Amino acid sequence: MIRKKAIIFGVTGQDGYYLTKLLLKKNYIVHGIKRRSSSVPTNRISSFLNQKNFKIHYGDLTDTSSIYNIIKIVKPDEIYNLAAQSHVGVSFYTPIFTANVNAIGVLAILEAIRTIKKEIKFYQAGTSEMFGKTKEKFQSEKTVFNPQSPYGAAKVFAHQITQNYRDAYKIFASNGILFNHESHLRGDNFVTKKIVSSLTRIKNGKQKKLVLGNLYSKRDWGHAADYVEAIYKILQQKKPDDFVIATGRDCTIKEFVNKTAKIINLGIKWRGNGLNEIATDKNGKTIISIDKKYFRPLEVDYLKGNAAKAKKILKWKSKISLEDLIKEMVQNEPK
Ligand code: NAP
Ligand code: GDD
Repeated sequence: MIRKKAIIFGVTGQDGYYLTKLLLKKNYIVHGIKRRSSSVPTNRISSFLNQKNFKIHYGDLTDTSSIYNIIKIVKPDEIYNLAAQSHVGVSFYTPIFTANVNAIGVLAILEAIRTIKKEIKFYQAGTSEMFGKTKEKFQSEKTVFNPQSPYGAAKVFAHQITQNYRDAYKIFASNGILFNHESHLRGDNFVTKKIVSSLTRIKNGKQKKLVLGNLYSKRDWGHAADYVEAIYKILQQKKPDDFVIATGRDCTIKEFVNKTAKIINLGIKWRGNGLNEIATDKNGKTIISIDKKYFRPLEVDYLKGNAAKAKKILKWKSKISLEDLIKEMVQNEPK
């Protein structure tokens, strides 16, 4: 039997873990690309490192030669580009780096595919952040992009250049437009992980306070394990296309805090407003407060996706509820 070969850029990230697990289960040979960085970035994928169908290569999306060489050596059937500077807030501090990785890095992969082997199927990790400020209650593949950050703007370039290579060179290049998806493997500085970890530590007497930014933006949160199934399906279609992947539910940051507090049985009471809003515990002690430093120069106020196309064509829908997602995150917190 001939095994399919896949390259995953961004293998060390949250989605990299879940997608590697899925592809290994489907009998793929997976080539993961990791950066040389000052701290060892392979903690999420340590369980794969000794498996014979999993190979790791050094590479960086800002180093075009590394991308070209890896693709030339591996000549994979599929490439999944999950690599990005993925923090929206940080992109305001590192806009040029973010654009180099999230926009130009994608073009470098597409150019390598075009010149080395045009039959390679390509998946680009697009995002609901591309919609940015929108008037549409549910965002779909037809919603106009209006990004509100260097991150979102760079991802719009990546999305459009992927479509461009599909049309111009007949490359099987598809975009996912994924809404927020989380898990216990989420990076520590994303809001869901920060809330779950901090409230758990507060409950266990290991932390005094959780400090947040905007409590009133709305996000459509799903589970990363569900979402990588959609990513896989996108590359198994007969023709390349773009798909919104979302739950169709929305929730504010404050509601997420309340749901988490309930699940870990931490009684909290809110009072005040704006930068003075706080939450206290049952003894009246302040355990949540707000700091301006966590606000962004521009905010995306609400995101809620319409994944009807994915449901119809990919036969995909989100299976894990928000409550079960939070429970899974809580269960995996250190005791
Ligand atoms: P993540 O955990 O932050 O992982 C990002 C990955 O990109 C890491 O493996 C990181 O490597 C790698 N990376 C960063 N800069 C790189 C560079 N210069 N060269 C090569 N690799 C680089 O993100 P995620 O949540 O798994 O998301 C995966 C992708 O989906 C990202 O492109 C993200 O923008 C997009 N996305 C995510 C969501 C979401 O809600 N999670 C929603 C929509 C779209 P290190 O480990 O070395 O940092
Ligand atoms: N990170 C963070 N930290 N966000 C906070 C905080 C805080 O202390 N307090 C409030 N927020 C608000 C942010 O202002 C934003 O409105 C919301 O919480 C979610 O922030 P993040 O968890 O950082 O995620 P994001 O929605 O900006 O971006 C994520 O989802 C995108 C898809 O829509 C990332 O995974 C992106 O890579 C992804 O494309």
